Amino acid sequence: MSSFLNNLEWRFATKSFDKTKRVKSNDLNQILEAIRMAPTSFGIQPFQIYVVKDQKLKDKLKLNSFLQPQVSDCSHLLVFCEDTDIKNKIKAYIKESGKGKGLKDKVSLKASQARVTAWLSGLSKEQANNWAKNQTYITLGFALAACAELRVDSCPMEGFISNSVNKILKLPKSQNSVAFLALGYRADEPKSKKVRLSKSVLFTNI
Ligand SMILES: Cc1cc2nc3c(=O)[nH]c(=O)nc-3n(C[C@H](O)[C@H](O)[C@H](O)COP(=O)(O)O)c2cc1C
Repeated sequence: MSSFLNNLEWRFATKSFDKTKRVKSNDLNQILEAIRMAPTSFGIQPFQIYVVKDQKLKDKLKLNSFLQPQVSDCSHLLVFCEDTDIKNKIKAYIKESGKGKGLKDKVSLKASQARVTAWLSGLSKEQANNWAKNQTYITLGFALAACAELRVDSCPMEGFISNSVNKILKLPKSQNSVAFLALGYRADEPKSKKVRLSKSVLFTNI
């Protein structure tokens, strides 16, 4: 555990990346695997992650991110998108869980599909979208922790114009960009020390 906490101490939201350094594909794959392994409600994984390494595309995205330099100077930019086509995601989940299973298990999976779909139909569109977005943010947290363990610097970001990013990436209608994670290597050490509220403020023992 101490190494996990040390990793969190090491990481910071990196504003200034060394443009010459690229994240190794093995490290990148491990970060993506951490995202894949993150838990989500019902296991439905209602998200899509775009891995952007094309410089022209990153430059274009920077123009729609209030000119924040991390977007174009990073090695790879992960774009976290919620996917609100939840019915399709449920179907994909059931298909994946049914692989290699017998008829009896498949019948019980169909019943689970019906239960989750019924739950979904009780949500308003806005509630369903919020739900998908919340699941997507869980994966952002896992990616941040994975980066720190691998000593890959990162910057989580919400400072961009989502509609424009959706258009640039030609996202299907069901997808919506919610966060970026710029990856790479710091050009400078953090300029200030970490600021966090104290445990006595954040936690309540009852
Ligand atoms: C969801 C989210 C959105 C953020 N958006 C931005 C952003 O657009 N630009 C930026 O420079 N930092 C952004 N940050 C970084 C935070 O400002 C930073 O994580 C926070 O101040 C704590 O500092 P630390 O990460 O260095 O410990 C964001 C962080 C999170 C988690």
